[in-house]
Amino acid sequence: MLILALESSCDETSAAVLDMDTGRRAIRSNLVASQIAVHRLYGGVVPEIASRAHIEAITSLTRDALAEAGCTLFDIGAIGVTASPGLIGALLVGVNFAKSLAYANRIPLVPVNHIRAHVAAALLAHPDLEPPFLALVVSGGHTTLYAVDTYTDYRLLGGTRDDAAGEAFDKVGRVIGLPYPGGAAMDKLAALGDPTAVKLPSPALPGDTLDFSFSGLKTAALNYLNGEAQRGTPIAASPDALTAGRAADLAASYTDTIVRAIVKKTDLALKQTGRKTLVLAGGVAANSHLRAGLTALGAKRGVRLCMPPLSLCGDNAAMVGAQAYYEFLAGVRADTALNASACD
Ligand code: KG4
Ligand code: ZN
Repeated sequence: MLILALESSCDETSAAVLDMDTGRRAIRSNLVASQIAVHRLYGGVVPEIASRAHIEAITSLTRDALAEAGCTLFDIGAIGVTASPGLIGALLVGVNFAKSLAYANRIPLVPVNHIRAHVAAALLAHPDLEPPFLALVVSGGHTTLYAVDTYTDYRLLGGTRDDAAGEAFDKVGRVIGLPYPGGAAMDKLAALGDPTAVKLPSPALPGDTLDFSFSGLKTAALNYLNGEAQRGTPIAASPDALTAGRAADLAASYTDTIVRAIVKKTDLALKQTGRKTLVLAGGVAANSHLRAGLTALGAKRGVRLCMPPLSLCGDNAAMVGAQAYYEFLAGVRADTALNASACD
């Protein structure tokens, strides 16, 4: 069946058409209108601007996604839309647009959870992947481990108690002068530095818990940067070789501390659940150091690691469509009473 999917939870508007069936998970189109350039001026996402930009983009993007897929609304069997979690104003744009489209054209409407959609990106990349598996979602708002029992049954095992890994990357990236969002640039910078140069506290909470706390690590890195500035040796990711070298050392140490913590808790989750398949998903799943760390863990433990390609790690509607299909099969439907929710 053909599924039209819409995503507007943060700073990307996206529309996609998927062809989903037993044994078939195909992306017919997946268009993304990124607002990054707009928000970069402010160093982060401005919710009101995000909502307005979604409104401006969503109609033409949907038209283009249908055209690229070679179909019309008459061919669409269900409309999937991200309804939670995310920025409430941003979510409401996609939800209201999808509700109108579904109602006017008598197409079933399927609300989708954004986190599950990130995990579903791995289903598109790995056609034979099926639950049960362990899922690790690392994004701008989440660092969470789930036992995924069926396509629609998610059990929360652990996660961050404060900031998410993506947010932690972005914050330090911003302070050393990288453009928003700093995550991808931190990834590149970290490859040039010494991961043992700066000692930082681990975000993995002690003991058998699968929880994290990134706020202490973030504060430690910011204190380190402030201390260096006060000593008259400020660190910035500038083209100046000396300063850039020290920024790279900090990026490498910071990244290594985050990756080690995530690998440690994922290893523990694999032990606790006995799962033999691990899915890595979310925007930070694009991080080369995290991918390498989890690849090594998978090889060591004999666990299959499934990761979406970089093109499906960030927010996109194809992943929403993939999850919408399985929610549809599970009988999930919404009507015009559907509301968006900022929380999980
Ligand atoms: O999943 P996503 O697109 O949006 C949310 O649902 O939050 O994740 C965005 C986050 C941002 O914090 C961005 O800096 C981070 O993913 N990110 C990365 C990389 N690429 C994107 N973080 C580290 N390394 C990367 N290569
Ligand atoms: Zn996301």
